[in-house]
Amino acid sequence: MDLEITGRSASEIADSLRALVERGSLQAGDALPPVRALAESLGINRNTAVAAYRQLTRAGVVVTRGRGGTHVADPAPVAQEGFAADSVLRDVGTGNPDPDLIPDLTTALAGVAGRPVLYGEPVIDRDLETWAREWMGQDLAPAASMRLTITSGAADAVERLFAHLLTRGDAVALEDPCFLTSIHTVRLGGYRPVPVPVDDEGMTVDGLRAALEQGVRAVLCTPRAQNPSGATVSARRAAELRALLQEHPYVLVVEDDHFSMLSRRPYHSIIGPDHRRWALVRSVSKFLGPDMCLAVTASDPDTAERLAMRLTPGTTWVSHLLQRLTHALVTDSGVLEQIDRAGAHYAARNARFAALLTDRGIPADAADGLNLWIELPVPARPVTEQLMRRGWLARGGDDFALAEAAPSHRLRLTVHDLDDAASEQLATDIAAAVETAGASRVAGMR
Ligand SMILES: Cc1ncc(COP(=O)(O)O)c(C=O)c1O
Repeated sequence: MDLEITGRSASEIADSLRALVERGSLQAGDALPPVRALAESLGINRNTAVAAYRQLTRAGVVVTRGRGGTHVADPAPVAQEGFAADSVLRDVGTGNPDPDLIPDLTTALAGVAGRPVLYGEPVIDRDLETWAREWMGQDLAPAASMRLTITSGAADAVERLFAHLLTRGDAVALEDPCFLTSIHTVRLGGYRPVPVPVDDEGMTVDGLRAALEQGVRAVLCTPRAQNPSGATVSARRAAELRALLQEHPYVLVVEDDHFSMLSRRPYHSIIGPDHRRWALVRSVSKFLGPDMCLAVTASDPDTAERLAMRLTPGTTWVSHLLQRLTHALVTDSGVLEQIDRAGAHYAARNARFAALLTDRGIPADAADGLNLWIELPVPARPVTEQLMRRGWLARGGDDFALAEAAPSHRLRLTVHDLDDAASEQLATDIAAAVETAGASRVAGMR
């Protein structure tokens, strides 16, 4: 490749390479010249070329693969949650709540149009704040110092918390397997994900210890209904993780309690009473619907201040119409009963589907959450391919893996909205798909 790289100083060379990327002369994945070759062609010291590449790495323009050289960064898309557009297949991997179980807003909407809210007014609706203070405070050890922030959902809160507290290249402990949006957030921010394995009781102690030893500056933990595994942090595990974090009071601990009101399990926090940088984020997406775009974040005062600052140049505040609507819904006893029934419905449908699979020779357990995390005796990819031929779009576990590992043997299924006949059919089709995939695997080994 004949590239017109120019410059004498590291900044000039970095600017020139950046211009080549912007103009498309260098494309995602393209290799940059080796440091020595660049230094020779420009007649500069090798350290200057190294410094130019370092600047570009820090800016996220290039990635260095050790001996593999330096390449233009490839913002490879991360798999997204939600329906697959344009598919004729029945999508059983959406991660969505059931629209029929989302409370009807019609009555509440009529009451939310209050007086206009102007610039400079308090960003949190007073009634919502009073309610949320009680809701969050009862669950938090450091409740006395708690401050509240409202963001446009949980993903928005996490993105802004990280953006203000971390810089590119900082290490962040993420659960493995991991929620897709969190993988995306960390990748886009240029942070370094450090995988912490999750078992039935949540993040493992050894995993978090290893991550802390690697110097992570933030830990993102799902205390209940971890996505995709459904795991919930047990009381014992929470105590062990709190003990571990005691040595690291300034590591930001973010808890994403996304299933809160729907969860069938108690919440056990990994945030100890003396932890200094923490945030508990509770979105209303799962019980009032993703389109509400609202999450409450409780945090220590410093973190709250930084989060508020980070909102200022962006969304500034979440519309008071949405805040009033949320407040009207979560203080309505009829809506609360409906949310409780929805939680019971998700748990019952998932347990039933797990039993159908178990009956067909694929032992399965329903944990907490909207999804089932099914372990297969064969890799998931050929099974999802077989399922496509039978009319189903299922999500294999590879999308959720953080650590480079062997092919995933897991499926994440969103099946709470299937009726009995469709559930039976899917369970039968999965068993058949596993059998076919297993048989072709054996044939391939011969
Ligand atoms: C673990 C987890 N956190 C957060 C969210 C989404 O929250 P929000 O819609 O408020 O960004 C989801 C949705 O699937 C989730 O699974």
